[in-house]
Amino acid sequence: MNIKEINIERNLNMNESILSDMYSRFKNLRKNEYSKDIPLDHFLVTQQELKNMNIKFDIVKEKNKDRLYIHDKGKRIFRYTKSFYPNNTSFGFQVANDKILTERYLSYANIKTTNSKLFTVDEYDIAFEYVMNCKKKLVIKPLALDGGLGVFIDITPSNFDYFWNECISAQNRRKVKNPKIILQDFIPGFEVRMIINEGAFMSATLRVPAHVRGDGKHSIKELIKMKNTERKKNPLLKSHPIKINNGLVQLLKYKKLKLEDILSNEEFCILYPQSNLQHGGENIEISNLINEEVKQQSVDAVTAIPGLHTSGVDIMLENFDSVQGTIIEVNKAPAFLLNYYPYIGKPQNPMKYIFKSLIIESRILRNILDIKELDDLDLNILINRFKYNYLKQQRLEKTIQKLETENEKLRRLVK
Ligand SMILES: Nc1ncnc2c1ncn2[C@@H]1O[C@H](COP(=O)(O)OP(=O)(O)O)[C@@H](O)[C@H]1O
Ligand SMILES: [Mg+2]
Repeated sequence: MNIKEINIERNLNMNESILSDMYSRFKNLRKNEYSKDIPLDHFLVTQQELKNMNIKFDIVKEKNKDRLYIHDKGKRIFRYTKSFYPNNTSFGFQVANDKILTERYLSYANIKTTNSKLFTVDEYDIAFEYVMNCKKKLVIKPLALDGGLGVFIDITPSNFDYFWNECISAQNRRKVKNPKIILQDFIPGFEVRMIINEGAFMSATLRVPAHVRGDGKHSIKELIKMKNTERKKNPLLKSHPIKINNGLVQLLKYKKLKLEDILSNEEFCILYPQSNLQHGGENIEISNLINEEVKQQSVDAVTAIPGLHTSGVDIMLENFDSVQGTIIEVNKAPAFLLNYYPYIGKPQNPMKYIFKSLIIESRILRNILDIKELDDLDLNILINRFKYNYLKQQRLEKTIQKLETENEKLRRLVK
């Protein structure tokens, strides 16, 4: 194995015992089935939700992008571009996009998050020294990229040079103007995507890597075939079967297994290091397995960031009993297809909540809200938003106080 493969193998934030624990906690392991004509594009899902809610909209092409103009009671109230939720501001975007700024705002609000050091490309020597002196396990990643590009774990003095360059190359490939590099403490556990909107927890999704579950009868190869038949029932997974290729054979070899081996009953075997659905991963809705404290922590993370209201919060949990996780990322434009079409678990519809909330807001601001027209979900939204805005106001006040104290110190230094 070369240095890159070794890192990929270790880049696995999931293991068989977590999978086994998760399955044992599920009451209903039924795989969801979806009709053939469901929309598979986020933009189309949005349009379907709007139609279901009788909200009027026009589809408009602007600067080569499809947008929706949403109307309510005869007025155009906002513009929607795929995944860009109108309640997030550009400053919220800026903070969520920048891993150091996110960390700073979460820390100001005392929310458990990452611990990072930032370097420019010229600071190779300083970064190397940091790695040399650091007693903790480290991760290297770009300051502001996505999709896991340029992220590597287990950085040591001997592999630092290779991964430092890989991290910069990933940014160059994506034409990042001024690449910056972060060295961050490694966080043990597995990652859960929490969807939060205006103070309401909507959904928790676990993305698990391709795996099979033994039954004491079938070989790994046969189990993969069976799994691929199941995957065909899910619109998101059907065009991404688990592939049998050299990488898989090598990973099995690493685990001292072969494709022909029969796994014992309830024995799990992970087949790919990445959790991407394209590599045979699965999206599992696990709201019922997550403690309330962790849901609240994810809501708190969004309250801590000015201008952010809809977010996909990525939190690392050590196990399903955890009452506190570590927030590693606050995504400002989460794609909701994962939530609409889980492989296992209850399908969610966050877009409905978002649009209902935006319509109520618009009616309040236009002084045309008719309380008699509100249904139970609308009332729930109002209560959640009231609590959330109250908390956000309190948090941001503390954050501004801290920023002012820092400014004051700087002013004194300048004098
Ligand atoms: N500090 C960390 N400790 C452990 N795993 C991490 C850490 N940072 C990132 N990872 C893993 O790497 C993946 C990508 O990192 P992330 O910071 O989310 O970058 P991106 O913005 O590209 O998604 C995460 O989903 C997580 O699995
Ligand atoms: Mg991420």
